Amino acid sequence: AGQRYEAENSPAVCQGTIDSNHAGYSGSGFCNGTSAVGAYSELTVTAVAAGTATLGVRFANGTGAARPASLVVNGSTVATVSFESTGTWTAWSTKTLTAALNTGSNTVRLVSTTAAGLPNVDFIDVR
Ligand code: GCU
Repeated sequence: AGQRYEAENSPAVCQGTIDSNHAGYSGSGFCNGTSAVGAYSELTVTAVAAGTATLGVRFANGTGAARPASLVVNGSTVATVSFESTGTWTAWSTKTLTAALNTGSNTVRLVSTTAAGLPNVDFIDVR
C-alpha cells in the first residue's frame, strides 16, 4: 500500500490558493496554483528505501488546453508532464509518474511551465 500526500496539508506548499469549490477532491481541498510560469505545488514525501517510486498525481484541468509542468524531485527536474484537459474542473484524473527517491524525506514539486499555471492538484499517492 502507498501513502497519500494531500496538496493542502502542511508541509506541502501551494503557490496559489487552497480551494474547495470543485467537488470530487480528496481531503479538505486542492491546490489552485497561481497562473504563472514557475508557480508550484510541492509535496514532501517519505520513502523507506531509496529507489524508483510511482507517483500518482491527481489533478483536474477544466480548460481545453494542457497545463504542462516540470516534475522536480529534490531540486532536480526529472520529467516534463502534460496535464491534459479533464473536461471540467470537477473531473479529476490521476497521472502516473515515476521518479527516483532517496531514503527518508524528499521534495516533489510540480512547476508550471506556462503562463496558464498548473492544473488543480489534489494529491500525490506514492508507492
Ligand atoms: C478557474 C477554476 C479554478 C482554476 C482556474 C485555472 O478559475 O475555478 O479552480 O484553478 O480556473 O484556470 O487555473
